[in-house]
This record gives sequence, structure tokens and C-alpha cells, in this order.
Amino acid sequence: MVKTPIDAKVVTEVINNFGIHPVGKGTIREIVKIVNDIEGITGEKFIRMEMGVPGLDPAAVGVEAEIKALKSGVASKYPNIEGIPTLKKEISRFIKLFMDIDVPEECCIPTVGSMMGGMASFMVVNRSDHYRTGTLFLDPGFPVQKQQCLVLGHEFGSFDFYDFRGDKLEAKLEEEINMGRYSSILYSNPNNPSWICLTEEELKIIGKISRKYDVTVIEDLAYFAMDFRKDMSQPGLPPYQPTVARYTDNWLLLISSSKAFSYAGQRIGMMVVSPTLFNRKFPDLKRYYSSDKFGHAMIFGALYALSAGAAHTPQFALAAMLKAVNDGEYNFVEVVREYGKKAKIMKPLFTKYGFKIVYEKDLDEPIADGFYFTISYPGFDGVELVEKLLYYGISAISLKITGSAYSEGLRACVSLVSRDQFSDLEYRLKCFNEDHPL
Ligand SMILES: Cc1ncc(COP(=O)(O)O)c(C=O)c1O
Repeated sequence: MVKTPIDAKVVTEVINNFGIHPVGKGTIREIVKIVNDIEGITGEKFIRMEMGVPGLDPAAVGVEAEIKALKSGVASKYPNIEGIPTLKKEISRFIKLFMDIDVPEECCIPTVGSMMGGMASFMVVNRSDHYRTGTLFLDPGFPVQKQQCLVLGHEFGSFDFYDFRGDKLEAKLEEEINMGRYSSILYSNPNNPSWICLTEEELKIIGKISRKYDVTVIEDLAYFAMDFRKDMSQPGLPPYQPTVARYTDNWLLLISSSKAFSYAGQRIGMMVVSPTLFNRKFPDLKRYYSSDKFGHAMIFGALYALSAGAAHTPQFALAAMLKAVNDGEYNFVEVVREYGKKAKIMKPLFTKYGFKIVYEKDLDEPIADGFYFTISYPGFDGVELVEKLLYYGISAISLKITGSAYSEGLRACVSLVSRDQFSDLEYRLKCFNEDHPL
């Protein structure tokens, strides 16, 4: 048996005991558990790239505001489902200052993370027309959103848009929309996991399709302003976060605070609904909700039924973080730029030892450095590679579970890898390459 950086006997034993075969098909949380177990037994620290958790401290201004709110006694009070007024005001300002889009405060709603924003969106958008009950995902994507559609009993479809960039996107979208019965299109931008960033031209196409087929666009901005090739960090100044909201009035934005403010643990995010959509009436909504008005059904139907709103103190935290950002006192993009800097160092380490970047190009440019990148190694498919790399102390997830057409690849997340692990990473990749010569 080849000697690997992590004791092979332990890795095999943990995998066998866990009972998922092949282990590379495991979900993110399953891989997390396996790696925790191996680390626990061997005492060896992994290069952990399987989960998209922030690797930075939470924004201090948020923590302080939350403690203050907690001490003031808000814990005993139910917050309004539509959100506390100060937060609604700051979300509306944020959308104007960083996207150059005008939205009234009533259309800005806190959610229990973007996770819940997604669930609530499907519950209303996909129920607005009895004939159309599904979401078309531009893949690769965040697997849990399809799980949400599944548990709601909604139909969904997807295609890998890497091969349909630029003007090829229109015909492909049209073909897919005509095949399904979709009421919504969902994508993340920047894209988890490929880090493709949709261009204005592509967003214009999506907007056109939305108008032509009356489809609501759910734009997931979990990595807001993190296309680090552009500096979108200055309030009120271009360039702004690209958005489909410039090209259709049938949109809904999901903005997470998990990565932008490293606030994942408090489960607070924002849903911003186009004013036109918010006020639009859909008679079919009455099948589920007391009102046929979209915004009313969202707040007093879906969000009420899910959790009666977002927890009180994280709303104060988010309001304070946004206020600091909106007032130009806190540059959140500068803080998270660290992810891009790490990716810039880590990607060449992989390619030096024979790995390839799967989603390599963003149109004509090399893919940007960000929170994720994607890798493959000749001779292995993604599921095999996940398992092989565990023996070398490196953990990632297979692209297969993201709906990717490139099943030989893995998604690697840079956030949890600390800079003092780079030499370990290089050593382990070197061992892997020597044991699997090309
Ligand atoms: C694309 C995408 N959407 C949504 C989420 C969920 O965000 P939140 O933590 O706000 O629920 C994530 C988290 O990783 C994500 O990557």
C-alpha cells in the first residue's frame, strides 16, 4: 500500500463505517462529518475545502449592535414579519448605493438567511400561476435550492450555462423555457461553484426572456460585489453590482449576509422584491394565501408560515452593518477580498501538480479569483477524486451534486484554508501527483 499523508487505514475505516459508497457522492455535510472523524482519530489537520463557510471574523459593528439590542430586551418581543423599520430603510439605501436600483422600503424584507429567502420565493413565485409550477436553474449551482423545490413538490429543470455564454444564452433559455412549465429562473452571480460572473449582455438576455415569457427572475447575490476584478465597494459610485433588475421588472433578489459580513451563524439575509412584482396581483395565489397581491402573500403568507419573520437581534446587527457600509464607514468588500487573494495563490499550486481548473474561462478571460474554484485531475471522475484526496488530507465536494455537466470536477472553497496551511497543501498535492503520475 502506498504511504499517504493521512493514515490510509484510518481513512478507509472511517469511510466504511460511515456507509456511503462511493463516499464522493456525499453531500457537503456528510463530507464534513467524515473529515471531522478522520481529523479526530489521526490528529492531522485537513486542507478543508468542502464547505462554503466564512473564514473571517463577523463584522464587529454587527456583533456590537446585536448585543446592545439583546440587552435592551428585544428578545421578549416578536419582531414584525416584514422587518424592523431601521433595517428596511438601510436595505433600501444599500440597493440604491451599491446597485443603483430604487426600491421602496416596503419591498425590503429580512429572511432567516438566503436559504429561507429561497424557500419563501419558491412558495410564492411557483404558486402564482396554477399552470406553471417550476424553477429553471442555471447550473452549476447551490444544491440545497433544488432540495427546496423537491420538498415543496415543485418541478425544476436545469442546464449548465458554461457552454451557453454570451449570445448563445438566449436560444438556450428559450429552448428550455419552452420545454418546461417554469414560473421562475434562478442563478447565483458570482456563481457558486464555478465563479462565473454573468455579464450585462447576459443579464439583458435573461431580462428579455423574463419579459417575453412572464417569468420571475430569482437573482441570488450570496457573493455580493465579490467579482474582485471590479471595485464595487464605494457607496453611490459605479461600478455597481450587475443585476437583472436593470432589464426586467419581474425580479426578486436574495442577498445573504453570511459571506459579505461573515455573519452566517446568525442566519440573517435580505429579500428584495421588485416594486412592480410586489404590488402585482396573481389570482392563483388565493389558493394558498389570503391575498392575491404578491408582496402580501410573501410576508403574511409564506414568511409567516415559515417562521413568522427573522430573529429580532440579527435584524439590528444587519441594520447596523448596512448603515456603516452605506455611510462609507465600513468597506465590506475590502475585508472579503482576502478570499480572492488566497485563491490566487492556491489555484497555481493545484495546476503545478497536474490539476486542471474545470471552469477555467469567464468568456475570454481566465476565471476570476474568488470564494470557490473548480478542479479536476486527469484519469479520475469527481466522485473518485473526492475519495482519493481524503487520503492526502484535502477535502472538497464533487461537482456532480451541483448539477455541473463536468462530472470529472470538484468544487474547492478557499475560505477555511489558512495561509499557514499553504506549505502543507503544496506538500500533499506533490505527494498526490507523485503517486498518480500523469
Ligand atoms: C449561492 C448561494 N445561495 C444561498 C446561500 C445561502 O446563504 P445563507 O447563509 O444566507 O442562507 C449560499 C450559501 O453558501 C450560496 O452559496
